[in-house]
Parts: sequence; C-alpha cells; structure tokens
Amino acid sequence: MGPNLELIIFRTRHSVRSYRDDPVDEKIIRDALDCARLAPSARNEQPWLFGVISERSTLTQIAGLTDHAKFLADAPICFAVFGKKDEKYYLEDCSAATTQLILGLWAYGVGSCWVAGDKKEYADAVREILGVPGGYTLVSLVPAGYPKEIAMAGKKDLDDIVFSEKYSGS
Ligand SMILES: Cc1cc2nc3c(=O)[nH]c(=O)nc-3n(C[C@H](O)[C@H](O)[C@H](O)COP(=O)(O)O)c2cc1C
Repeated sequence: MGPNLELIIFRTRHSVRSYRDDPVDEKIIRDALDCARLAPSARNEQPWLFGVISERSTLTQIAGLTDHAKFLADAPICFAVFGKKDEKYYLEDCSAATTQLILGLWAYGVGSCWVAGDKKEYADAVREILGVPGGYTLVSLVPAGYPKEIAMAGKKDLDDIVFSEKYSGS
C-alpha cells in the first residue's frame, strides 16, 4: 500500500495497541521518520533524536518499565523520541515531531500509539537502556505495527471546544 498523505489520515487515525506480527518495511520506517524530521520547532532548533527499536528483549524490557504500555512488548517496532533538555521548547518540538511520526506511519496503514515519556519515572531508565546521553530526555515512545484491532476513542464536539473572538462560556 502506498502513502496517502491526504487530509484523510488525520480523520482515520486512532491509537493502535494491538499489532499483527508482520514486520514494518524499512522504507516505511525511513519515510515516517522523515515526516517527523520535518516538524516545526522553535527557532528551527530541531532538538530531537529518534531511536528505532525492534529487538524483542529491549522491547520487553522497556514495556516492563511502563505503567500503561505493556502492549509495547508485542509491537514489531517501537520509536523513542528524545529531546535536548537544554532547549526551552524541546517538549513542544518533540511533541510536534511525534505527531508527524504517527501520521507518517498511518499514511502507510501502520498503526501506532503515543506512549508518555516526559514526566514519567521510567524516562531515565529507558534513556539508559538505549544508551542515549544525559543531555537528552525521553519525550515519547511510539510502538507501531499493522493493526490487529483498532479502538475508537470518543472525541469532543467542535462546538464544545471552539470560540470566536471572545470566550463567553462557563
Ligand atoms: C502525551 C500522551 C501520552 C500518552 N500516553 C499513553 C500511554 O502511556 N499509554 C497508552 O495506551 N496511550 C497513551 N496515549 C494515547 C491516548 O490514550 C490516546 O491518544 C487517547 O486516548 C485518544 O485516542 P486516539 O489516539 O485513538 O484518538 C498518550 C497520548 C498522549 C498525547
């Protein structure tokens, strides 16, 4: 399946936490990372570093550290997004990159799930397992693979979250 970078990828994306065993092609991985690389960043600092992990023992080890991502152990692949700690906007920058990574994967039909890294107790342990220097901090983990199951999350109505000119709700 080729990429479909039309608006539809935003509307059909859902977090995927259950994956088929099929490996994700190297070309797709590179292309999704390229989408992440192109994300906006404050002052164009691009303060990110992307890890690509497919070794089962490492995935199991990382999954074991997380509180809400045990499913990561069964993913064919997992990305780890790190940000340079001394860049003021590293969290915003790396969050933008994470979103583009997820949408880049989905353009190929590869499902994934944003797993919290920043503010999590396991952030440092994951960094050490992956041998990443202390100047970086984990922002997100993104386990990915072809979906076995897709759960639909409810979304707020536009009219409940948008205001024009001046907010007048309560
Ligand atoms: C910052 C952040 C952290 C998240 N952490 C987790 C997580 O640790 N485990 C998990 O299963 N999902 C995690 N998610 C995914 C959300 O649960 C999911 O995006 C939300 O329920 C909406 O569903 P959707 O992605 O299908 O629209 C996280 C999402 C974000 C943006």
